[in-house]
Amino acid sequence: MATDSKAGSTTLPTTIVLAGSTGSLGLLIAYHLRQRGATVRALVRPSSSASAEAESLRLQGAEVVETDYSSVADLTQACQGADCVVSALSGLRQVIVDAQTRLLNAAVAAGVPRFIPSDYSADFTRLPEGSNRNFDLRREFQQRLDQAPIQATSIFNGMFMDLFTGQAPLIQPAIRRIVYWGSADQPLESTTMVDTAAYTAAAALDPTTPRYLRIAGDITTVRDLQVIASEVMGQPFKLLRVGGLGVLETMIKVTKTLMPAENEVFPPWQGMQYMHNMLSGQVSLPTLDNDRYPDLHWTKVQDVLPKRG
Ligand SMILES: NC(=O)c1ccc[n+]([C@@H]2O[C@H](COP(=O)([O-])OP(=O)(O)OC[C@H]3O[C@@H](n4cnc5c(N)ncnc54)[C@H](OP(=O)(O)O)[C@@H]3O)[C@@H](O)[C@H]2O)c1
Repeated sequence: MATDSKAGSTTLPTTIVLAGSTGSLGLLIAYHLRQRGATVRALVRPSSSASAEAESLRLQGAEVVETDYSSVADLTQACQGADCVVSALSGLRQVIVDAQTRLLNAAVAAGVPRFIPSDYSADFTRLPEGSNRNFDLRREFQQRLDQAPIQATSIFNGMFMDLFTGQAPLIQPAIRRIVYWGSADQPLESTTMVDTAAYTAAAALDPTTPRYLRIAGDITTVRDLQVIASEVMGQPFKLLRVGGLGVLETMIKVTKTLMPAENEVFPPWQGMQYMHNMLSGQVSLPTLDNDRYPDLHWTKVQDVLPKRG
């Protein structure tokens, strides 16, 4: 129990139900929730209950609850008495729309006041339907969320900064090029996975969050990336413009035809759709809520790039 010094009374710590707790982001959210003193009820599928990730959650003091995501009754039981449900699930329709809807229905049935869906992305609210399969699924869930009697908060963090040299390889150290399409002056928002998790934990414990929270650890144009990469890696980088955004659209269509991989969450063409959305400016963040929790630190792009050898 924690003591509320103003009232002089004792209050129970806030209980957060965390779905997708064994995932990369989920584990980090659990860590930051525990750091903030929350009681964490970590939902795991029975198949993941003995995993190293579940064990790590237990060691951190989370209550690991084996849950059948196909059962609203099971999920409702798991949500009893919670203050907020945080989803960090990852998947396609059966997860983002179907499993999250059952989780939402369970949260409502259990009387949980707040729900944070598994968005953690660029701001897809102004994006036309069909521009990005994974965002379309999130929007479909959002329509259900917005009709439910629960306070919803989505967190938009741009791209995970960790991807700049990984799955979204704009920065190509081997050829010392910044590869891009469209304009080299389009601002691109990115946030590390760790900073997103720390912010999500703070938001989960904040009963007054609005419908959307927008954050960016850094905002950099392709031209900024050229300067940063050159400085950090100690080698001059050049820009390599593959073509306009129309060329990228054609590349997406060709890649999707040759390598459909429809059952993969992030096939190559999906990552290319994400890059197109970012480089077109359609998913840029109009305002930022970075300062809402002043204790948080923001990692910059220069901090995640490999330093000169
Ligand atoms: N903004 C960006 O650039 C960016 C990049 C990457 C990810 N994200 C987003 O971050 C969020 C978390 O992604 P992540 O990379 O942490 O995912 P992840 O590591 O793949 O973890 C996914 C989690 O979902 C659970 N899960 C998967 N399928 C399930 C199902 N059918 N039923 C129930 N649980 C299921 C997994 O449980 P098990 O352990 O049991 O499999 C795991 O806990 C997602 O919304 C993702 O789109 C954003």
